[in-house]
Amino acid sequence: MSLISIKELSKEQILTILAKALEMKQKPPGPILQGRVMASCFFEPSTRTRLSFESAMKRLGGEVIGFSDDTAIATQKGESLHDTMKVIGHYCDIVVIRHPLEGSARGASEATDKPVINAGDGANEHPTQTLLDLFTIQECQGKLDALHLAFVGDLLHGRTVHSLVYALKQFDVRLYFVSPPSLSIPDSLCDELKKAGVPFSFHHSVDEVVGKCDILYMTRVQKERFADLEAYARVKDQFILTTETLKRAKKNLKVLHPLPRVNEIAREVDETDYAHYFAQAENGLYVRQALLSKLLGES
Ligand code: CP
Repeated sequence: MSLISIKELSKEQILTILAKALEMKQKPPGPILQGRVMASCFFEPSTRTRLSFESAMKRLGGEVIGFSDDTAIATQKGESLHDTMKVIGHYCDIVVIRHPLEGSARGASEATDKPVINAGDGANEHPTQTLLDLFTIQECQGKLDALHLAFVGDLLHGRTVHSLVYALKQFDVRLYFVSPPSLSIPDSLCDELKKAGVPFSFHHSVDEVVGKCDILYMTRVQKERFADLEAYARVKDQFILTTETLKRAKKNLKVLHPLPRVNEIAREVDETDYAHYFAQAENGLYVRQALLSKLLGES
C-alpha cells in the first residue's frame, strides 16, 4: 500500500496510525524494520520531512538510501521520473518522494510495485504532514472533534492546508480561512466541505477569528510557487502573528505551523504557552515511524 493522498485513508485508518504513533512516542519500539531499506528521494528542499523520515527509518533499525539534491542524479541527463522510480524501486522496500510537480508522487507509484509515500507534490498534497498535524491537535487539545480551527496565510498553494482540511471533514469541526483574496483556499476543497456539512467562513484578518478558535494554523506564503515575484512581495507579510494579537485568544489556543516560517509568527510568540509548532515538528518522527511500520507490514 502507498500513501499518495490523505483521501486514501479512512477516519479509522487515520486514528489507528495516530494511536501507533503515540505508542512509539511513549515507548521506542526498537529495531522492527531491521534489514529493510527506505529510498529517500527529495527533488525539492526539505528539513523536517526528509530528516524525520530518515531518522524514523534508522531508529527502527532500517537503512536509508537516496538524495536530497536532484542535480546529483541521472534526471540531469534527461532520464524521466518514471524510469528513475522504476529503477530505485529495485533497490529498496519503500520510497519516500518529494517533487515540485503536482501528481508526481502518483506517477512514481505507478512506476514501481514498492510502496510510495508522498512527502509533498507541488502545491497539491502533503499527507504525512496531515497525520502529524492531527496527532499534534489530539495531543494538545485532547480530542479531534468539537474544535474550531483557523487557517492563515497561503491557502492556495499550501499543500499541508489542502491535505489537513480534507482530513478534517471527517471530524466535527468549524473552520475559518484567513488569507489575501489572491491566496484563497481552492474552490474544490470548499465544495468538499459543503458536501460533508462542515461549516466554514472566509476572513481577511486574524483579529476576526483569534478569540474563537482552538487551533491557529499559520502558514508561509510559498515564494517558490509564484511566477511573478512582485505578486509575492505584495502578500508575503500580510499576516504576522504577534503577542499583541494573542491577547484576545482563548486560553486553550495552540498555534501550529508546518514550518519553515519566514515572518508570519514573531519570535516573541515562541515564548508563550500558545506556541506549539516545534512540538508539532518533533511529532513528525513518531508519526512517520508508525507509518513506515504500517506500510512495511510490521505490527
Ligand atoms: N513541513 C515541512 O514539510 O517542512 P520541510 O519542507 O522542512 O520538510
